[in-house]
Amino acid sequence: MTNTILVLNGPNLNLLGLREPEIYGSDTLDDIAGMLEDRALELGFTIDMRQTNHEGMLVDWLHEAQADGVRAVLLNAAAYTHTSIALLDAIKAITIPVIEVHLSDPKEREEFRHLSYVGMAAALTVEGHGAGSYRLALEAVAAGKV
Ligand code: DQA
Repeated sequence: MTNTILVLNGPNLNLLGLREPEIYGSDTLDDIAGMLEDRALELGFTIDMRQTNHEGMLVDWLHEAQADGVRAVLLNAAAYTHTSIALLDAIKAITIPVIEVHLSDPKEREEFRHLSYVGMAAALTVEGHGAGSYRLALEAVAAGKV
């Protein structure tokens, strides 16, 4: 087991800062990575932050997390959260704890966002705190909650 926390971001999150800022805020993904790296340093962890627009890449990275022995995965699967049985199966296939993360609170939004396949297998869900959702998820790992 390493002290690395893998942070996986799904489709359209590369456009954070530009994309619907009234919902997702003005921080870019790089801003969030920087904030997380600073907090992780204080807590004795290393952050490995990634983003992809491709579902299968997220599946591959979850498998790699297991092989690499990362401490935990923070997963914002974005829209794949609500559609991907492949991600549900991948989370169930590994023993590393996966925390579901969302900037917005999908349960407060359109009906089609209320279903979360990721949430069916995640150890914990942190949502609705903007960029702070990622920090709270990291702090939950550091506190041994997962
Ligand atoms: C999101 C919520 C999802 O419903 C949406 O498809 C996203 C972002 C969030 O972080 O709030 O792309 O995961």
